[in-house]
Amino acid sequence: DFHERNKGQDDKPITGEYIDGVLLPTLIKPGDVVALRQELKLRETDVFVATFPKCGTTWTQQIVKLIWSGGREDGRDVDEALPWIDVTKPHELDDMPSPRGFKTHLPYHLCPGGDPRQSPAKYIYVYRNPKDTMVSNYHFSVKFLPEDMPWSNYYKMMLSGDVYFGNIFDHMRGWYIHKDLPNVLIISYEMLKKDSFNMIKKISDFLGYQLQDDVIADITKLTSFEKMRGNELANNSWMDKYRREGAGFMRKGVIGDWKSLFSEEESIEIDEIIKEKLSDIGLVFDYDP
Ligand code: A3P
Repeated sequence: DFHERNKGQDDKPITGEYIDGVLLPTLIKPGDVVALRQELKLRETDVFVATFPKCGTTWTQQIVKLIWSGGREDGRDVDEALPWIDVTKPHELDDMPSPRGFKTHLPYHLCPGGDPRQSPAKYIYVYRNPKDTMVSNYHFSVKFLPEDMPWSNYYKMMLSGDVYFGNIFDHMRGWYIHKDLPNVLIISYEMLKKDSFNMIKKISDFLGYQLQDDVIADITKLTSFEKMRGNELANNSWMDKYRREGAGFMRKGVIGDWKSLFSEEESIEIDEIIKEKLSDIGLVFDYDP
């Protein structure tokens, strides 16, 4: 049966169609990605939060939402304020009032609305150290994986790139090399965690909102892990069913949880791969709390 067949690391345990070698969740068809790329009409006030899954998407969505509203909850859920554009149709969001925000997990070269270099919109790309990102994905992906898939198989699957939204290193590379574009801001989960106030200020300035420090301080408090976990408008609790037993969407929210699953060998191996694949563009990661 499916689960038996797909236990092994050499098979493809998750289903979906590919575009340009990038595996898509079953909700998204290659034709949808092409249509969004060609037909989505972007505005100068549009903001994308782009990520490889589990790098801090929701956190950043909540920050953008609160920047728009001057630090007060406006009653909208994060995914209502910044819908997941990848699962929409090109004209579905035409009536959405400005400023519009979208979340996307698509790689740079497939980003909805076309090449960011020719787009009036702004893009915030959030990356996270790949080890923590993989661990967070492992706990999240229970719905898409054979339930008993061991971590070591999942780890190999991640390295193979046969996971939703493709190879994690290619994803980060594809966005990171555009870090100098005026309409692209690249930040990391670790920067957000360690220097929340200044990173939120940076996002606010990038979006053209010169917010006072006391408002930035309010947003910093409201977007702490604890505050977001208790906030029904920001905790994605409806997604808990996609997670492993006992792991809610707001799972740990820390830097360094990779140590709970990575073996010494895996850690050494991935360090080598990262060096090989990403060191030439200057992308380095922070693995310590
Ligand atoms: P963990 O599984 O490591 O806890 P995404 O929104 O991209 O799916 O990312 C989810 C990850 O971000 C989860 O990581 C989640 O706990 C973490 N997260 C969400 N909000 C956070 C916050 N305010 N501070 C720190 N981590 C947060």
